[in-house]
Amino acid sequence: MAETPAPRATSNRSTTPGSSTFKDFIGSQWADRARSTPAAREQAAFAAERRARISALHPGVTLVVPAGQAKVRSNDCDYPFRAHSAFAHLTGWGTDAVVGSVLVLAPSAGGSGHDATLYFRASAGRDSEEFYANPEIGEFWVGPRPSLDEVAADLGIATADLGEFAVVADALGSDALLVRDADPTFTESIDTRVGALVGGVAEQDGVPATDDALARDLSEIRLVKDAYEINEIRRAVAATGHGFADVIADFDQVLAHPRGERIVEGTFNRRARADGNTVGYDTIAASGSHACILHWTRNDGAVQPGDLILIDAGVEVDSLYTADITRTLPVSGTFDDIQRLVYDAVLEAADAAFAIVKPGITFREVHATAMQVIARKTAEWGFLPVSAEESLQPDAQYHRRYMVHGTSHHLGLDVHDCAKARRELYIDGVVEAGMVFTIEPGLYFQADDLTVPEEFRGIGVRIEDDILVTEDGAENLSVGIPRTASDVEAWIARS
Ligand code: GLY
Ligand code: MN
Ligand code: MN
Repeated sequence: MAETPAPRATSNRSTTPGSSTFKDFIGSQWADRARSTPAAREQAAFAAERRARISALHPGVTLVVPAGQAKVRSNDCDYPFRAHSAFAHLTGWGTDAVVGSVLVLAPSAGGSGHDATLYFRASAGRDSEEFYANPEIGEFWVGPRPSLDEVAADLGIATADLGEFAVVADALGSDALLVRDADPTFTESIDTRVGALVGGVAEQDGVPATDDALARDLSEIRLVKDAYEINEIRRAVAATGHGFADVIADFDQVLAHPRGERIVEGTFNRRARADGNTVGYDTIAASGSHACILHWTRNDGAVQPGDLILIDAGVEVDSLYTADITRTLPVSGTFDDIQRLVYDAVLEAADAAFAIVKPGITFREVHATAMQVIARKTAEWGFLPVSAEESLQPDAQYHRRYMVHGTSHHLGLDVHDCAKARRELYIDGVVEAGMVFTIEPGLYFQADDLTVPEEFRGIGVRIEDDILVTEDGAENLSVGIPRTASDVEAWIARS
C-alpha cells in the first residue's frame, strides 16, 4: 500500500529515455534546495486538540485515518486531489496535503493517549526515477513535495515516510480502527493484511468498537467548531459574497449568452479558484423554472429577462472549509409582484427560523419553525386542501409539496458536515454554541403543478444563510450578502 505507485502506462504515446547515461545526467547538477523549517501553522494547535478528543474516545486502540487518493475522472486524468475531511480535521493539512498520506494514532507506550504519526510520500531525490518519470507524483510533473521535517514543523506532528507504514500495517491488530471510505484501495489492502476491521473486537464501555463507531465519532467531534474553524468559515463566506457580487456585475453577459447559467457558474468558479481552493460543491445556477429542480447543476440553460435566478454556491478556502449560500435574484433588477410575494414568504420563514436559534433548542425546531411559515403562506394562498394547522400534522404535510428538502444542515469541512453523527446528536440534538449550520427554506412551484395558479408556476426561491450559534443566540455569517427583496434590488441596481 505504501509503495511508490508505478506511473500509468503511456508507452504507446511517449517515451522516457532509459539509458544509464541519461539517468546519470538528469539526476545530477541540481543546486541544493534551500529548505526552511516553518513555524507551526495556526491550525496545528487546534488539530492537536481534535486528535486528543478522538484519542479519548478510543483508548488503547490504533486509529488509521488515510487522506485518500485522487479519483479518476477519465483514463489517466484525475480530479484534483482533496484530502478526506476527517484527515484534514485531524491534521490541519488542507489543499497542500500530500496525496496518499496516512495519519496513525497509536496508543502511547506510556499509558494514556495516543501518539500521532503522519506517514507521507516525502520529497523524492533528484536521483530517483520518480523525479522525472512519474506524471502522477514526480517533481518534474506536479512540483516538489515537502520534506518530513518541514511537514513535522508545519503541522506539529511526527512524520515518517509512507514506505514505513507497511511495518505499521503488518502490526495492526484486529481491534485497530480505520476510516474506510477515505481510500477504498487502501482499505482493501488493510483488510487483506489484517482481516476485515469492521466489527473490531475491542469493547469500550461494553460497546464493541467498530470502524462505524470511529466514523461516527469523527463526525460528532466536528459538530461544535473551534475558533479556527469559525474563522475559516467566515473567510469562506466572505469569498462567496464576492463571488455573488461578481455574478451580478456580469448580468449583461449572462443575459446575452445562450447558456447564461454557465456564465454564472464560470464567474463564481473564477472567484472560488482565485480566492480559495475551489467551490465546496457544484454550483447551482438555476434560472426560471430550473430553480424548481433542487440540484440543478447542469447549468446549461438560458437566462431570460424577467427570470429569477437561484444561485446556490460556496467557496471552499484552502483549509477546505466551505460556505453554502443561496440567493435568488431578479436578473432584470426588480421582482414582479408574484415573485416578490413568494420571495417575502421564504424570507419570513428564514427569519422566523433564525430568530429562535440559541443554545438549548433542538435542531429540529429550526426546521419546524420555518415550516410553520411555509404552511401558513401556502394555506393563505389557497394551495393546500386543508388549513395550515392540519397540514402541519405529521401525517399530513401538504405544504411540503412546495419544499421537499430540509431547512438546515451542519456546515464545515463538508458542505453537509458531520454526516455520520447520530440522529440524537443531529436532528434530535440540542443546539450548542459553536455549531455552524445553514438555514435554507424555499418554495418551488413546478412549471406543471396544477395545484397552484398559473402565475406561480415555474417560480423557485431559496434563501440560504450560514448561521453560527453564539453563547446567547446566533449570528448570521452571511447577512452581509443582501437578502431582503429591496436590498437585493438595490444591490443589482448598484452593479
Ligand atoms: N448546496 C447544497 C445545500 O444547500 O445543501
Ligand atoms: Mn445547504
Ligand atoms: Mn446550498
